[in-house]
Amino acid sequence: MAGKKLDRAPGAMEDWTIPQDWERFSPAEHAMWDRLFDRQTRLLGDRAAPEFLGGLDVLRMERPGIPHFGELSDRLMKLTGWQVVAVPGLIPDDVFFEHLANRRFVSGNFIRTPAQLDYLQEPDIFHDVFGHVPLLADPVFADYLQAYGQGGQRASALGAIERLSRLYWYTVEFGLIRRDGNLRIYGAGIVSSHGESIFALDDQSPNRIGFDLRRVMRTKYRIDDYQQTYFVIDSFEDLLRETLETDFGPVYADLATQPDIEIDTVEPEDRVVSLGTQAYARKGVLSA
Ligand SMILES: [Fe+2]
Repeated sequence: MAGKKLDRAPGAMEDWTIPQDWERFSPAEHAMWDRLFDRQTRLLGDRAAPEFLGGLDVLRMERPGIPHFGELSDRLMKLTGWQVVAVPGLIPDDVFFEHLANRRFVSGNFIRTPAQLDYLQEPDIFHDVFGHVPLLADPVFADYLQAYGQGGQRASALGAIERLSRLYWYTVEFGLIRRDGNLRIYGAGIVSSHGESIFALDDQSPNRIGFDLRRVMRTKYRIDDYQQTYFVIDSFEDLLRETLETDFGPVYADLATQPDIEIDTVEPEDRVVSLGTQAYARKGVLSA
């Protein structure tokens, strides 16, 4: 996700990108990628959306270790016209949206240490590339993320970035999808987290609620632990269509008159898939 009031790193381009400098990564850093990749791919076979699992092939490079962004971008470009570019860390919202609107996905340029295996606050290459890039090989999701970037540019002009960011959070980062009567995960924040890949589907604690665009944009979210509510889409086609067909300006104006919804609240009009106990959140245990 993008941040605010940031200074451009020395050496970064005007669009905040930096060279990936792939040769700089140590054997230990490449080994960390391989370890995380193996662990997650073993776990996700019957948990992640088929589109995500199919897209994993784009990450299977000839050399082991952290993917080389030039090679990765060549592959993605042929499939859906997307590229992956490196940035030094958080970037301003308008720069983030500009990249997405032009089919460039920005990735952090560091990888977690063994001590951070299961939790880190700032997105690293594993989160950004393993979590996000496979779905960029899917034509429908690829269009959705570009549409989100274009929507972000409009939201910026309307002062509604925070509201739109909830759509990103509850779909791109933490979305669930219904498939053949079961739930599957597709959000990057889930698929890149060993613990949340299990929690999001199996735990009794969180609410799982049918996706509703306005409802999602009224809902707060948490950045410090597993989500207390997940939203379930029926298909990427539906998500893309609704994003393209909605005139967000009047929606933002309308939602400004309504209160936010707390992270664990279930509303009377919600289409509840499973009502959570919130037992995990009440224990106040921090993990990822
Ligand atoms: Fe992310």
